[in-house]
Amino acid sequence: MATRDEERFAELLTEAIHTVKRRQARPIAVIQDELMYALGRETGNPVEYWRKGHIPASQTEFAQLAGELALRGHLSREWLRQFWGCTDFVGLAEVEAKIFLQEEGGRPALPQKPYDRLIGRDRLVEQIQERLAAEDQRLPVAIDGMGGIGKTALAYAVVDEALARKRFDGAVWIREEPSSAPGAVAGGLTYAGALNAVALGLGIHEATGRSSAALEERVAGLLRAQKILLVLDNLESAAQPQSEIAQRIAALLGPHSRVLLTSRQRFVHQVYHIHLTGLEPAAAGDFLRQEAEARGIDHIAAIPASALDPIVRQTGGSPLALKLAVGQLAYQPVDVVAERFRAVRLHASESDEYARFYRFIFLPSWDLLSQDGRQLLISLTHFAPGVGGTFEAIKASSGLGTDLLADRIDELWRLAFLEIGEPSISTIRYYLHTLTRHFVPSDIVQISAATGRF
Ligand SMILES: Nc1ncnc2c1ncn2[C@@H]1O[C@H](COP(=O)(O)OP(=O)(O)O)[C@@H](O)[C@H]1O
Ligand SMILES: [Mg+2]
Repeated sequence: MATRDEERFAELLTEAIHTVKRRQARPIAVIQDELMYALGRETGNPVEYWRKGHIPASQTEFAQLAGELALRGHLSREWLRQFWGCTDFVGLAEVEAKIFLQEEGGRPALPQKPYDRLIGRDRLVEQIQERLAAEDQRLPVAIDGMGGIGKTALAYAVVDEALARKRFDGAVWIREEPSSAPGAVAGGLTYAGALNAVALGLGIHEATGRSSAALEERVAGLLRAQKILLVLDNLESAAQPQSEIAQRIAALLGPHSRVLLTSRQRFVHQVYHIHLTGLEPAAAGDFLRQEAEARGIDHIAAIPASALDPIVRQTGGSPLALKLAVGQLAYQPVDVVAERFRAVRLHASESDEYARFYRFIFLPSWDLLSQDGRQLLISLTHFAPGVGGTFEAIKASSGLGTDLLADRIDELWRLAFLEIGEPSISTIRYYLHTLTRHFVPSDIVQISAATGRF
């Protein structure tokens, strides 16, 4: 004779399986098999047996079962408490914290919102949203552009909006950061690291110790069963080629889940590509005023937009540069601040904010450039800003042959040192972003050019 607890356990288990069935639209037998697999039992499915009122004897197995059901059926804390209450096991609070880690307030764990109001990117947010929502478009969406140009902010806005509109069941945000936060990976992202982080984000807590093929299968199963938006942020600092990580993660997605990538380095393979450049002048002006208002710098918040033009021009609309400018505008005249973006001295003291800024946004990529790539970058500064030059013009001014120039352009392109204007098949013009143009003639480049050692 089953006790009341055993009967209640059987009822709650059966209800939960039916909830999963409704969510995933799959036969009960398939759901039970997947559960068995998830619990690490490769043979001898115990679920039917449990459904007759036999409570698993092992607390670990019971906790895993509860976790899997809660995750797959999006079950509530209340369900978990009742389910747990059928047993004499202790440690409910711990299990609850683990299972609902991702879903406090009904929302998965994302980074802190990085802005008060996102400025000037509405159309892009919309464009990316639509792309992610399209049933027949499964390529990863990749946002690339120089440091501080707003890639992470844009990706955040897309995820925030997608979840608010319930276009996805959840999101998993993977970033390269030396932190113990779930999803953070230290020491250079690899495919294996990304896979582990995705597993954790999906609530697979026992990811380590599994073989990678088993983990892959498990993650792919969850990504197929749900609509998940995966974000891989800052792929430029990955320890493996970013396109390799992107493609292998994309291969796990299934029909409904999607992946969004960001990197300072350009994506050239198999992605839907968004290259992010600075804010339009009007948006950059709004940005300056909003930022000034937020920081209580009233005289800037109040002046007419046109008075801020020099800053907008010299920063090329880079949000990070604009933020730096606002801090300086508190106690420096507009023209002085604008001018300091031009005369770059990277070897200035540690406390020089402009030097820190330029080092932060350019040095990692500069260090990756070949000597020829650096030379070409220097010769590109001779072309008019925003206009640039055609392949032929650059060839003439750099003295490089066609093949060599094509290779070097490829290199600068991948590291996002180059922009192209209004491409058409016959004429492509290459030019440098304003900040790149300021950076290239800086002291560090001149010193290395003079010594012949870059
Ligand atoms: N459109 C925007 N509106 C408001 N703040 C922004 C916008 N774009 C970027 N920011 C802010 O500017 C800073 C740099 O942007 P971030 O997204 O970190 O750049 P990236 O990821 O390209 O290095 C961040 O503090 C970010 O929140
Ligand atoms: Mg970023």
